[in-house]
Amino acid sequence: MSSSPAPLRLGIAGLGTVGIGVVKIIRKHAALLQARTGRPLVITAVSARSKDKDRGVNLSDYAWEDDPVALAKRDDIDIFVELMGGSDGPAKDATEAAIASGKDVVTANKAMLALHGQPLALAAETAGRVIRFEAAVAGGIPVVKSLTEGLAGNEITRVMGVMNGTCNYILTRMEATGQGYNALFEEADKLGYLEADPNLDVGGIDAGHKLALLASIAFGTQVNFDGVALEGIQRISIDDIHRAADMGFRIKLLGVAQMTGRGLEQRMTPCLVPADSPLGQLEGGTNMVVLEGDSVDQIVLRGPGAGEGPTASAVMSDVIEIARGTRLSTFGQPATTLQAAPPAQAATPAPYYLRLHLADKPGALAKIATVLGNEGISIDRMRQYDHSENSAPVLIVTHKTTRTTLDAAMAAFDKTGVLDGAPVAIRIENI
Ligand code: NAP
Ligand code: HSE
Repeated sequence: MSSSPAPLRLGIAGLGTVGIGVVKIIRKHAALLQARTGRPLVITAVSARSKDKDRGVNLSDYAWEDDPVALAKRDDIDIFVELMGGSDGPAKDATEAAIASGKDVVTANKAMLALHGQPLALAAETAGRVIRFEAAVAGGIPVVKSLTEGLAGNEITRVMGVMNGTCNYILTRMEATGQGYNALFEEADKLGYLEADPNLDVGGIDAGHKLALLASIAFGTQVNFDGVALEGIQRISIDDIHRAADMGFRIKLLGVAQMTGRGLEQRMTPCLVPADSPLGQLEGGTNMVVLEGDSVDQIVLRGPGAGEGPTASAVMSDVIEIARGTRLSTFGQPATTLQAAPPAQAATPAPYYLRLHLADKPGALAKIATVLGNEGISIDRMRQYDHSENSAPVLIVTHKTTRTTLDAAMAAFDKTGVLDGAPVAIRIENI
């Protein structure tokens, strides 16, 4: 007599955008999920802050826990699905409790894993449990699985990407509308795109968390968010957007991770990329991740980086993986074997875009050119735009140099007495 397979029982903590999206998929696709995994997927219990909130979905079939830690410890769940967010506090407490009480964990929480990924992965492996986090990076794009599984036979040489939809929305709308950063920040706010702390988005922190997670899988290193060189988009002006476009570039908040002879380079900074490249053509809130490996060469993944459906889709891919019996290490290899890679002290040399306002007087440009020459920075292109009565905007594209050398040059510009305002320097990434 054949017995029916045991259901896989989920406890979901967090019933916001993503959590409710997961509940909807499980209810809508019960038969399809069972066909694909060979067993029923059921929700046993849920938790959120407010039990009485109308979430547009009937939750009365599920047990309720006010405390996510109590949910994580319940005997009647197999997987703890953490969808509350926050690097510490309830999310981390409940994740630790779930592992300690023998549960696998699925989470969308990039902040928690970027800051605590190594100890959590070690704890899970010691307890024989798994932590999966497909939804934490680039929403609906299956980039974690692409790196961990699809490209597992490659030595990964570089990971790049636009991983924050809000920043890409603001930057592409600046170019499309000709409006400045502040106006588009307000527009993104009205549309509900910004995180509760907007600096996580526009300061590059959210995207930096995602890059740190991908770098760990790609290079077999312990996740190290502190090693990510971060710069946000707040200082990008409409002038920069226009000048970049004149030269055939677009400005993106671009993440790049690569292993160099100087250590692990991880940066999430505004960059000029060719306008006709896949990254240059990325519009609105969409994400794009470019993965390069020694055998595959390059693959480009593009899709929705956020939102109820796409993010819940990614959460479900992890739940299904566990239901099928696949058990992968958190970062693609046992946490005990991940190297503590020292961060590269300086980024790989690159050409830079420099925008300066110079006093409109004889010798001003010569002084700037002399400073660059003294620092060993060679000028590739230079252009002076329409100028006001007293100052002239000048655009310089340098040949390859390091950011350290450029910073020394910019400090020396200050002493020339010909600058009107602070210069702007943006790396050019030829991809
Ligand atoms: P959200 O809409 O703000 O929902 C958060 C949920 O967590 C709410 O249901 C909230 O309860 C609950 N919660 C918060 N603190 C709690 C606590 N102390 N105890 C119990 N429940 C608590 O957030 P979200 O957008 O769904 O994001 C969830 C996670 O997914 C985060 O880690 C986020 O970074 C990640 N993520 C989100 C997206 C996206 O597009 N939204 C994309 C990728 C990754 P109440 O509803 O009662 O307030
Ligand atoms: N704030 C994030 C973004 C949400 O704009 O991409 C998805 O992680």
